[in-house]
Parts: sequence; C-alpha cells; structure tokens
Amino acid sequence: MSTMTPARYRVAERVEETADTVTLALQPVDEPLPVFRPGQFAMLYAFGVGEVPISVSGRFGAGGLLHTVRAVGATSGALCAARPGATLGVRGPFGRGWVLPAPAGADLVVVAGGLGLAPLRPLVRHAAADRDRYGRVAVLIGARTPGDLLYPGEYDEWRAAGVEVATTVDRAAAGWTGRVGVVTALFEELRTDPARTAGFVCGPEVMMRFAARGLLDRGIPAERVWLSLERNMHCGIGHCGHCQLGPLLLCRDGPVAACSTALPLLSVKEL
Ligand SMILES: Cc1cc2nc3c(=O)[nH]c(=O)nc-3n(C[C@H](O)[C@H](O)[C@H](O)COP(=O)(O)OP(=O)(O)OC[C@H]3O[C@@H](n4cnc5c(N)ncnc54)[C@H](O)[C@@H]3O)c2cc1C
Ligand code: FES
Repeated sequence: MSTMTPARYRVAERVEETADTVTLALQPVDEPLPVFRPGQFAMLYAFGVGEVPISVSGRFGAGGLLHTVRAVGATSGALCAARPGATLGVRGPFGRGWVLPAPAGADLVVVAGGLGLAPLRPLVRHAAADRDRYGRVAVLIGARTPGDLLYPGEYDEWRAAGVEVATTVDRAAAGWTGRVGVVTALFEELRTDPARTAGFVCGPEVMMRFAARGLLDRGIPAERVWLSLERNMHCGIGHCGHCQLGPLLLCRDGPVAACSTALPLLSVKEL
C-alpha cells in the first residue's frame, strides 16, 4: 500500500489515562503490523475529520500498537472519542526513533514532561526488559498535577526491573506526598556517569531546552542527548515541507534529533 494511503486499524482497547488523554490499542485490519522503533510516530486518521501525527507509545500484544492521544482539537478529540470496534486510518510508522548507545553498560537518563512520556515509554519498556545491557537507567517524569502523570500504574513494574523512577508535579493535589517543582530539579539526584550516559528528552519545547542544557551541564556530550521535536506535519514522508525546522524535515530527519543539531535550531525564534 502507498505510504500516503491509510491502512485500516481497529480500536481493540481504549484506556482513559487522564482527564483529557486516552491510550488506544490499534490492531491492523488488512496487513500485518509494520516494524516500528521506539520514538517513531504514525499519522492517525479519524475518517471524515482529519489526520495528525501521534507517537507510538508501545506495542499491544504481538500484532498491535498503542498510541496515547491528548484531545486538544478536532482531530485529536475525534481520536480520543473512538471506542473499541471503531476503525481508524494509520500511515507509518515514520521518522527516526531514539538512538540507543551501542556499548554495553551505558547509563540512560530519560526525561519526560507531561505527554512527552508517550514516545519515551517504548524506550523505557525496552530498557526494563533488557536491563542487563545497560548500567543505571533513570526515568525522570514531570507533570502539571498528580492527575496528569501518565502510566503511573507501570512505575512499580519499571522499578522492580531495576529502573530508577522519580516524579515531580508543578502543582500538588490533596494526598500528594511526592515532589513539587520542575523536572530538572530531579537532576540533583542523578547518579549516572556522564562519560557513559545517553539522555532522551521529550516534553513541551521550553522544558526540553532547559532539560537538555541541564544534561549538557552535567557533562553529557551534546551528541548523546536526544530530543523529540514537534512541528506541524501533513505528508509524514518528506514531501510537503510543513514540518521544516531549519535544514531538517522533522518527519524524515526527526522527530528525534541530537542536541548538537537541535539546540541551535530551537534557540532561533519562530524558526
Ligand atoms: C512527531 C509528533 C508526535 C506527536 N505525538 C503525539 C502524541 O503521542 N500524542 C498526542 O496527543 N499528540 C502528539 N502530537 C501532537 C499532535 O499531533 C497534535 O496535538 C495534533 O496534531 C492536534 O491536532 P488537532 O486537529 O486535534 O488540533 P488543532 O486544531 O490542530 O490544534 C489544537 C490546538 O493545539 C495546538 N497544537 C496543534 N499541534 C500541536 C503540536 N504539535 N504541539 C503543540 N501544540 C499543538 C494548536 O496550536 C491549537 O492551539 C505529536 C506531534 C508530532 C509532530
Ligand atoms: S510532513 Fe511533509 S515534509 Fe514533513
């Protein structure tokens, strides 16, 4: 099938993650599931409404994908409203995913702001499942409120696998006994070795800039700090130019880019 023709996927499960965010488990109807790498995205089409880029947030069973969608407008709202049994269109997965360090024993630092944990979850699940391959694995998660934390039911599973998980919120709520403050404040507790650490960051752009600089300040080289960038996307395959960021077409050259490339571009206003 052409990369511009959506394949039919059926909604197998729908989980309400937060007040405005839903995870959909999608099963292909016509073709087997294509291979995807953590950090890639797909174009999800709500028939008759529109098509938007949404990261792959995990695998569903052997043959399906998970996508976590926040309802912010017409198309994401229609996707969030889709019920089990509904049919959606899917193109992809597209783009470059997270680049994992080759040497065995490397430390990983994953920094997520809000919905940014969605594209990072496949990476965390991979690290938790293949724990012996890495040194320390730290996952630092920030959210607006405790109710906005994504996938809280998985954190203990990750911890049990030897992943260090720390959370913080901007605003506490009744019963919250955890940390309050920006996610970069969690860097103080990092015990990873900068010389052998790779960093992975996704969240609102301003948070990514601060988080990336924080990791660089800790001595992690810019070539080993990876950001997942967002721009408007239409074709998803490098043809239309909508997702341009300086010399990059983010659907093709991203969405994941190294800090050494991404930070100079993000510091140019309205690029
Ligand atoms: C590579 C990539 C991966 C993405 N992964 C996810 C994901 O896993 N889950 C998810 O919920 N969303 C994700 N997004 C964002 C998602 O594509 C947008 O929220 C969606 O396109 C909004 O479309 P809409 O028609 O619902 O709303 P629109 O009517 O287009 O927009 C509604 C509001 O949201 C704002 N908005 C639209 N797009 C973005 C954006 N990219 N970033 C910030 N604000 C935006 C608009 O300015 C407007 O204020 C991703 C975007 C990209 C580029
Ligand atoms: S979305 Fe068309 S070139 Fe990237």
